[in-house]
Amino acid sequence: MLASVDDIVNVINNSSNIVFFGGAGISTESNIPDFRSTDGLYNMEYDYPPETIISHSFFINNPKEFYRFYKNKCLKPMLNAEPNATHKALSKLEKEGKLKAIVTQNIDDLHHRAGSKTIYELHGTSFRNYCTKCGKEYSIEEVVNDKNDIMTCECGGIVRPDIVLYEEPLDDNVVSKSIKAISECETLIIAGTSLVVYPAAGLIRYYRGHKLILINLSKVPNEDEIDYVYHGKAGEVFSRFL
Ligand code: APR
Repeated sequence: MLASVDDIVNVINNSSNIVFFGGAGISTESNIPDFRSTDGLYNMEYDYPPETIISHSFFINNPKEFYRFYKNKCLKPMLNAEPNATHKALSKLEKEGKLKAIVTQNIDDLHHRAGSKTIYELHGTSFRNYCTKCGKEYSIEEVVNDKNDIMTCECGGIVRPDIVLYEEPLDDNVVSKSIKAISECETLIIAGTSLVVYPAAGLIRYYRGHKLILINLSKVPNEDEIDYVYHGKAGEVFSRFL
């Protein structure tokens, strides 16, 4: 059912075992574009569809084009971004013992930078990079500052971000921890996601409780199954906890 900010704040205040499931819409208030909003990454003009570019086969076959898109459209906005009210409030709710885990589809590291500890990054993170040949690790700064069209390791291997590209599987360990947290929680908050990318979006079906909250600017599939629906900015709700 549709809920007000006050309704959602009350449910959260009366919950002691909360899990948060988030997507790119959580970071738009940190000036990182999401993917499917009208001003999102996937609605900008490119030579190829972005879902094609950030795929395993495209990375292997067109590493130069992959890096051009990834550096300009993914990395650059992240480097200048700061945690917003939602990231900070979630960190505070965790410190108060109310929030048990964050399950995120985001790769921007903002939950870590806000001080959250239990974070399951379903799609990996741009802040870890490694050589595909010898496994040597590289920082995001080294990747951004690399002047070559394709970043290569001293050993000659191509360096890639530790993110889950299309056509690649999610990490089993991250998935099983996410499912455990979601299946055991009293209150599941879903925010800033279109819930259209699987298997990530499918994890919410493991929720067993009756305090399922959605905080999202636009409608998502199967909204009628959600207990509390607020169509607005995540910051409007979470700024109430700061
Ligand atoms: N507050 C709440 N919701 C917001 C906000 C905001 N400030 N800004 C945007 N939204 C909503 C949008 O309305 C949209 O429904 O967040 C949602 C973002 O959806 P997507 O852009 O599809 O992002 P996401 O769901 O995270 O995408 C999932 O797709 O391409 C892959 O790997 C990529 O992890 C990503 C996955």
